[in-house]
Amino acid sequence: MENDATLTIGENAYALNIIEGTESEKAVDISSLRKQSKFITFDDGYGNTGSCESSVTFIDGDKGILRYRGFDIADLATSSNFLETSYLVIYGELPSANELDLFKERVYKFAKLPDEVISAIHAQPKNSHPMGVLAAGLQSLGGAYPHYCTNDRKADLDCFDESAALIISTVRTIAATRHRFLLNEGVPESNPTASYCQNFLSMMFGNDSSSEDIPASVINALDLIFLLHADHEQNCSTSTCRMIASGGANPFASLAGGVSALWGPLHGGANMAVIKMLNQIHDAGDDGSRFIESAKQGKTRLMGFGHRVYRNYDPRAKILKSACDDALEALGVSSPILEIARRLEEEALKDPYFVERKLYPNVDFYSGIILQALGFPTDMFTVLFAIGRTPGWLAHWKEIAETGKKIHRPRQIYQGSPLRPYSALEKR
Ligand code: CMC
Repeated sequence: MENDATLTIGENAYALNIIEGTESEKAVDISSLRKQSKFITFDDGYGNTGSCESSVTFIDGDKGILRYRGFDIADLATSSNFLETSYLVIYGELPSANELDLFKERVYKFAKLPDEVISAIHAQPKNSHPMGVLAAGLQSLGGAYPHYCTNDRKADLDCFDESAALIISTVRTIAATRHRFLLNEGVPESNPTASYCQNFLSMMFGNDSSSEDIPASVINALDLIFLLHADHEQNCSTSTCRMIASGGANPFASLAGGVSALWGPLHGGANMAVIKMLNQIHDAGDDGSRFIESAKQGKTRLMGFGHRVYRNYDPRAKILKSACDDALEALGVSSPILEIARRLEEEALKDPYFVERKLYPNVDFYSGIILQALGFPTDMFTVLFAIGRTPGWLAHWKEIAETGKKIHRPRQIYQGSPLRPYSALEKR
């Protein structure tokens, strides 16, 4: 559609194009507005701003729909696995058997970290958060593979298949290396016959590379969590990653930025915050009702609830809720905080405050309970989100590198001091 919108400001009318997406989403293209009118648009927090056209993920937040490359998340959760879904998210199609074998081979061959990256991980201050270590680890990894990390878009794209496999493989090794270092332990060698998640679990918790003693239910639960996090279109960390990539930066730097953006409690850090919240409620002997009241009064937030895009049940939370029951049963673990979570959900879903604001459980509400049952320390939960999100960040880096033309550079409305003269120090 061309010139289908008219914006009237005062006496002037400006013709603007309308862009329509493949799922009939519509946008007014305001890229020529400033040139025509000297006006920019203003959208604090970008809630109503499309920053790009993308073919990776589709979300309909009102209906609670999430699709990677056209495939419904529930179908992928039932029938696919994390590595196959990673291939789909990154390359746009489900792989043939041969393509999948080659992809896995590339991922598995990179499981081990170069010694200098291990040293860089060990050298981080002992109180560094695992997310800080992951960001630093990714930057060091780029340094250890300078030919994958040139900041020359064509060169970085030419070796993308290798660098993407390297990053997918080693995000788990970086996480496990740090975890074991703090315990004064080494990481067992990766086992070439074991799956991605089997290897990760044995790197984290095993005594050697044999992972036979890890129950399939544990491996499957972790794989599902990673798959459900694989992409989520233009969220805070992915937008950060794309912004960095738009300046021509390599995948390692772009993903390190994505990791930093994910860290915050309103984004990926919410999975840690949920567990802290549930423990607090438990320790206070609250059945959840006092906490809900204080959230309604704006004194706190019900972590794991609400979403910028979903005004409906987050489809990932729906899947994780039932996976949570299965995983805990298979592990033979009973979780008092699961009971509290269920009660909070039940209460919130019938409370007018939450109903009117369309606040539903999001992906973080149940994922932390599963991760805790699997034995992961709470401060690593966001790292696990990052491992799952890695293929999404890579897909968006690739999309920018292949199709992006402009550096991302929003404008602002300046609300500061007008021009004033500099005053010498002795006169202040
Ligand atoms: N508990 C209580 N009230 C809430 C919550 C919540 N979790 N979330 C939103 N509200 C209220 C908010 O106070 C506001 O009320 P009012 O209209 O009276 O001022 C209204 O709902 C709209 O909230 P908002 O902050 O304008 O919504 P947003 O779209 O900017 O924020 C959010 C989305 C996810 C940051 C927010 O819902 C939140 O802070 N949730 C808790 C943190 C969380 O679970 N984050 C994980 C998000 S999913 C994983 C990911 O993508 O990272």
